[in-house]
This record gives sequence, structure tokens and C-alpha cells, in this order.
Amino acid sequence: MGYNVAIDGPAGAGKSTIAKKIAKKMNFIYVDTGAMYRAMALYLLKNNVDCKDSAAISEKCKEADITIKYENGEQIVYLNGENVNGYIRTEEVGNMASASSPNPDVRKKLVELQKKLAATSDVVMDGRDIGTCVLPDADVKVYLTASSAVRAKRRYDELIAKGEECDLEVIEKDIIERDYRDMNRENSPLKQADDAVLVDSSYMTIDEVVDAIIALIKK
Ligand code: DC
Repeated sequence: MGYNVAIDGPAGAGKSTIAKKIAKKMNFIYVDTGAMYRAMALYLLKNNVDCKDSAAISEKCKEADITIKYENGEQIVYLNGENVNGYIRTEEVGNMASASSPNPDVRKKLVELQKKLAATSDVVMDGRDIGTCVLPDADVKVYLTASSAVRAKRRYDELIAKGEECDLEVIEKDIIERDYRDMNRENSPLKQADDAVLVDSSYMTIDEVVDAIIALIKK
């Protein structure tokens, strides 16, 4: 059995940045489950599947073989044998991931892969349903959040740094809509597990959050 840390929370709360740092310090594997939903979304977009057509999503998702490898400590997502890390970080793919991730067939396939990874390794896994569904017996559970304005500004800065054109107001509106979808879906909605520790990162530095979570692991 591996040691399992579950970090859930809304988009832009800083989950991946923080989980990566914790993994490095603790010598755990960082499992980015959002990247798996994004890879699935990329496949659906490539195949012109309508995000509202759940029967088509259920059918098409069977063809997507998603696997994970680690190279130099970095998670690489393969979609049908192709490294897709360079294609999954766009707003279009993020929105499709949010729209297609409620599908039970998509979830079943990816949750199985996530459980397998956690069973054999020490992991820090981040997502929306890790503490509630994927790893209900995780050793440490954190619900990491921040205000939508702070999260929008962080996403905006990230996109600008990558040279992408964007609008802060549109990003905040997208974040609020995505939160609503993630929190109100029927299947594995985003919510704080009863035994998760709430961490609001709005006014905390990255290192303060990392140290707070490592303290929980060491306790
Ligand atoms: O964390 P992210 O932005 O990369 O996630 C993209 C979408 O995938 C998000 O809108 C919800 C979905 N997701 C999910 O349903 N369950 C997870 N464990 C992780 C992500």
C-alpha cells in the first residue's frame, strides 16, 4: 500500500503547483487527474463529439487509451500512444473536460487508472473527487480553494506568460461557470470530504500552503 495524499478543489486554487512541490519534497509521485480528463476531452474534440451528446461521449471514450508515464519526475499523458502534454492546457480543452467529465463511462475508466496508481505508489493526487471517491481512505485529505477573483487573476497571469491573448473578466466568468458545473453534477460532484482539511490559499503564498500540508502529512 502506498501513502496517499488527496487534494481536491476548484480550478485555479493552485492544486497542481502545490501538489508538485509536496511530491518533490516528500519523494512521492504527483498524479494530475485533471490532465487525464483533459486528454480524454482532447480526443473528443478531435473527433468532433458534441459536448452535450452523452451517448456519443460514452461510445467514443472507449476508443481513447490513456496512460501515464513519468519522465524526470514529470507526468506525461499519452493518448493512444501519443504524448499530448503540449495540447491539453488550453481553455477549449479545459471547458470540454468540464463538460465531458460528468459522464459515468469517462469517470469509470479514469478512476480505475487512478486507483491503480495509488495502490502501488506513494502519491499526491489532485482533482475534484479524490478524497470523496477515488481514494476514500487517503492518509491526508485537503480541500484547497481560493476566491474566484484570485483564481481568475492567477489563470490570467499564467496565460499571459504563455503569450496567449485573454480577458480577465471572461476568465472569471468561465471559472464561476466551471465551478458550478463541477459542484452541481450528479456524478462525483466537487465537494469537501467530511474528513478533509480546508485550506483557503487566497492570501497564502505557495510555500505557506506547501508547508501547511507537509505538516499534516508529518503529524
Ligand atoms: O483541474 P483541471 O482544470 O485540469 O480539470 C479539468 C476538468 O476535469 C475539470 O473541469 C473537472 C474535471 N475533473 C474531474 O471531473 N475530476 C477530476 N478528478 C479532475 C478533473
